[in-house]
Amino acid sequence: MTWQSIRISRFGGPEVLELVEQPTIPAPGPGEVRIKVLAAGTGFTDSFIRRGRYPDFKGKLPFTPGYDLVGIIDKTGPGVTARREGELVADLCVVGGYTQYAIRPARLLVPVPVGLDPAEAVCIPLAYLTAFQMLTRACSLPRGATILVIGASGSVGTAFLDLARHLGLTAIGTCSARNMAAVERFGATAVDRRAGDFVTRVQDLTAGRHAVGRNDGAGVDAAFDAMGGGHFAPTFACLKAGGMLVGYGSQTMAVGGEGLLSAGLGLARLKLWGAVPWLFGGRHAAWYSITDRRLTHPDEFTADMATLFGLLRDGAIHPVVIDRLPLAAAREVHARIDAGGLGGKIVLLPWSTS
Ligand SMILES: NC(=O)c1ccc[n+]([C@@H]2O[C@H](COP(=O)([O-])OP(=O)(O)OC[C@H]3O[C@@H](n4cnc5c(N)ncnc54)[C@H](OP(=O)(O)O)[C@@H]3O)[C@@H](O)[C@H]2O)c1
Repeated sequence: MTWQSIRISRFGGPEVLELVEQPTIPAPGPGEVRIKVLAAGTGFTDSFIRRGRYPDFKGKLPFTPGYDLVGIIDKTGPGVTARREGELVADLCVVGGYTQYAIRPARLLVPVPVGLDPAEAVCIPLAYLTAFQMLTRACSLPRGATILVIGASGSVGTAFLDLARHLGLTAIGTCSARNMAAVERFGATAVDRRAGDFVTRVQDLTAGRHAVGRNDGAGVDAAFDAMGGGHFAPTFACLKAGGMLVGYGSQTMAVGGEGLLSAGLGLARLKLWGAVPWLFGGRHAAWYSITDRRLTHPDEFTADMATLFGLLRDGAIHPVVIDRLPLAAAREVHARIDAGGLGGKIVLLPWSTS
């Protein structure tokens, strides 16, 4: 029996995603399991990797893309005792998700409660965990605090808004005009990122209805920005005294909107704001990376995933799955991701044919 996966043999546009038929089903080695993948998440980071610009993964070619997956353990390899065949698991694999079968180290897998929709569950490992750890690990925000989410209509952005609502935070989100409804459905205030200066708009919104421009009370408690580079400075300007900016991406550089130097300067600014906050009215900043955090805090990774799957099982959070498509649609999916502003996540269902 043949099986299917997506392969990238050179970096580039969506056209480099190829659907391939594999002749033999691989066997897991020591410490590994074979997973029958039920749902593979897609998102901007997959596009970043496909372009060959992602700092944490540059090859080796060929490889199968796909940052996260949910599936059933089909076979355990020698020495695997903590996981069992038939168990539903999630994996933040970075690459390797767009496939019917994945061979993965057993120690990195997280159990998924039985009965969850795999397409909703696969929104947890990358999108929701990223937002959750920034809201609860990178920052300490009391109920009622106000946050600013840049790119609020995306996979991570909608996860931020959903979790903010759950945590009792007030959210403001920037997005394109066509995505304002996607942001407002979470109870957040949408700011059209192309209609004037978003910094003034955020300052006005937080200073109160009648205030104009900046005053001492204006600004948000925390802001989250994955555009990076030159975008960090205006986002930092939206903070109130003592507020925190968390930078977590270089999306503008990834799409060719600015160079490596500009992205590097953005990171240098982030470091400066983090090192000497007293020079900036107590406003400070930090960088967040889900893969770095998993390496340095593996226990948090497991605990936070379990918390999020519990919230999903209890109906406390509501991931936005905008489409469920077969592997054969991978090119189309990446073209849509590259066009931007999806309003949620597209999930690949590797065993579906239509
Ligand atoms: N550091 C980490 O651990 C980590 C983890 C996960 C993801 N990420 C990064 O987080 C970012 C978001 O990922 P995602 O999967 O949510 O992507 P996504 O679904 O494509 O969402 C990004 C959103 O940003 C908005 N946007 C595009 N260009 C913009 C610009 N120039 N200025 C402001 N907003 C813009 C788009 O919405 P509108 O068109 O509506 O504005 C889009 O919905 C990516 O850069 C990804 O690499 C980092």
